[in-house]
Amino acid sequence: MQYNKICILGGSGFVGTHLISQLGAAGKSIKVLTRRKERSKHLSVLPDIEIVEANVHDQHVLNEQLKGMDAVINLVGILNEREHNGDGFRYAHVELPRKILNACHENKISRLLHMGALNADANSSPSRYLRSKGEGENQLHSFAGKINVTSFRPSVIYGPNDSFFNRFAGLLKLMPIFPLACADTRFAPVFVGDVARRFVDALDDPGTFGQRYDLCGPKEYTLKELVEYTGQSLGLKRTIIGQPDILSQIQAIMLEWVPGKPFSIDNFQSLQVDSVCKEGTPEPTTVESIVPYYLGRQQKTELKDQYRQLARR
Ligand SMILES: NC(=O)c1ccc[n+]([C@@H]2O[C@H](COP(=O)([O-])OP(=O)(O)OC[C@H]3O[C@@H](n4cnc5c(N)ncnc54)[C@H](OP(=O)(O)O)[C@@H]3O)[C@@H](O)[C@H]2O)c1
Repeated sequence: MQYNKICILGGSGFVGTHLISQLGAAGKSIKVLTRRKERSKHLSVLPDIEIVEANVHDQHVLNEQLKGMDAVINLVGILNEREHNGDGFRYAHVELPRKILNACHENKISRLLHMGALNADANSSPSRYLRSKGEGENQLHSFAGKINVTSFRPSVIYGPNDSFFNRFAGLLKLMPIFPLACADTRFAPVFVGDVARRFVDALDDPGTFGQRYDLCGPKEYTLKELVEYTGQSLGLKRTIIGQPDILSQIQAIMLEWVPGKPFSIDNFQSLQVDSVCKEGTPEPTTVESIVPYYLGRQQKTELKDQYRQLARR
């Protein structure tokens, strides 16, 4: 079966933006649900897209918005909650997927693609972010047979407008000496274009029904190596100093209470496990072939131009 009318939650963000351009190129008709329409303005240049402002947490609203859709893609995720007790994570990662399931059931939608996270395990993960992600994913897969769910569980994702390399780039520009928390944690960064392709390929493929895929890039690095590489790509000479765990923990406790939570206790806990794949085939694109081309010069207008080109407009 071909799933042609796709509703995306969380589509206005980094991954969603890349995924939507690939889904558009594959001829899919897309509806994006967003809490604030102005956040999705950059998507309006793409063809065959409907952007709807809606409270996706309201079950009635969600049921209405999914009417007539063939499939749903859930990309909603937060790295930090406003609260300090896990309620925000549960709301976004557990309660929302449950409402999506209900709405799929109500509208007889049988296909759902879901974005999880590498190391997300409802019981044994070290952070609330990862445990809630694991619980949400399990909940979706427990409906096997009624709804065909495929989940993707990536390591850190990079690409134009990411919040990983771009964030470190911004900090490195300001700080000649850079103290780094959890410097030895390992990552296998995966390119957003590869992640988007996996979603698009899976959509109409019954072989992926009920599957959960870990997604990693072809190479592993420590966090320190990635931050050093960021500095090199910017042409900056910087000294990166890996902090002992106790200092990282104190930093997390302090920054937990800074507005916007630049680093939190939960982030620190997520970084206690390496974000690398134990099995599966790595995605092909290397950090070195992509990152230098967007670091430091990423402007919203440039990104808009890229999407215009993709959409041949
Ligand atoms: N980026 C990575 O390195 C990475 C790695 C592993 C897993 N992931 C997962 O991949 C997914 C997409 O990540 P991303 O980097 O594209 O994130 P992003 O840029 O922050 O986008 C997330 C989207 O989720 C929506 N959202 C956020 N909080 C919400 C809430 N409380 N209720 C409803 N919607 C909410 C937002 O949509 P509106 O504001 O338009 O409503 C936003 O566009 C997430 O599930 C994330 O956990 C990302």
